[in-house]
Amino acid sequence: VQAEKEGYDHFMLKEIHEQPRAFRNTMTGRIDEKGKKVIFEGLSLTSEQLMQIDKIFIVACGTAYHAGLVGKYVIEDLARIPVEVDVASEFRYRRPIVTEKTLVIVVSQSGETADTLAALREARRLGAKVLAITNVVGSSIARDADDVIATMAGPEIAVASTKAYTSQLVAFYLLGIYLAQVRETIEEGERISLIEALEKLPEQAEEVLSYSENIRTFADSIKDHKSLFYIGRGIDYAVALEGSLKLKEISYIHSEAYPAGELKHGTLALIEENIPVIALATQDELYEKMISNIKEVTARGAHVLGIALAGDTELHKSTDEVISVPSTVSLFTPALSVIPLQLLSYYTSLALGNDVDKPRNLAKSVTVE
Ligand code: G6P
Repeated sequence: VQAEKEGYDHFMLKEIHEQPRAFRNTMTGRIDEKGKKVIFEGLSLTSEQLMQIDKIFIVACGTAYHAGLVGKYVIEDLARIPVEVDVASEFRYRRPIVTEKTLVIVVSQSGETADTLAALREARRLGAKVLAITNVVGSSIARDADDVIATMAGPEIAVASTKAYTSQLVAFYLLGIYLAQVRETIEEGERISLIEALEKLPEQAEEVLSYSENIRTFADSIKDHKSLFYIGRGIDYAVALEGSLKLKEISYIHSEAYPAGELKHGTLALIEENIPVIALATQDELYEKMISNIKEVTARGAHVLGIALAGDTELHKSTDEVISVPSTVSLFTPALSVIPLQLLSYYTSLALGNDVDKPRNLAKSVTVE
């Protein structure tokens, strides 16, 4: 087992570091040589069928569900198709409105999650086409779906998902561009610049991985806290949810992710002197609003770690510490901004002496409903 960890102390740390390669592998063969188009070979869904889709459901559990939340932003923004995201264990019990024009996208690292498999079968029964985004091509979910987009993250061993999540994001980026290309909702020039930005992500992820030391220091400062908050707006909120789940899973510290603009409607009552808050501020169009939300918590004594884009000059004025990630297209920032959050959970769990790769009460793949 030690050998399989390739010198890393834990599978989780190894898998965090494998993300640049997982990004590259998930893109390989799916972008044409000139970098102008996305190609999905072997997809049974025809362009005609893709033109007719009037609604998409993304259905998944846990971390894969959080990837779906990002997927919604990506598909709605690029392809202008309405998307709903559902937790798989809820989807089939709420009489979802599914027709032959509905596409259901199920997302699953293992391809064996019972809740997701049951939702897939229900969606097919109702007449929807089902596309699976999965890391295991021979899995039950891959077999039962009409189409599969494989994430090429390689085997993921640590219970807390890292490289599978970011590879799911890359799959959604490719799919969003592909749907936009088929439905002609964006111009060629925009598509080319999106593809260029996508191809830069592996290198940019390497860069984020190179400054893990500051994160380690912040981890030491939060490890004895009972509770903390992750805040963000727009797509940053989706990342906040994933950051918070990562911390809960392996550090056992309670945390809550909140849409920053909603804090003042209740949760602000919980902000007290010294409470750690992780604030994501990577979205240009929401930046000013986000800064005011950060001021709302610092005014009440919160200890804030900000996640910003490189070149940010404002955030350090209203936070205690800033980690910046390289600049990219705003839809793509989650693939980079989640990395410091993964490392933060890892180092916090480590500092607490927990079993990082095998947290209590959790299983890598849950095959019971
Ligand atoms: C379990 C794991 C989570 C995972 C979820 C969905 O609960 O502990 O890390 O996100 O299942 O797994 P899947 O294999 O369907 O992505």
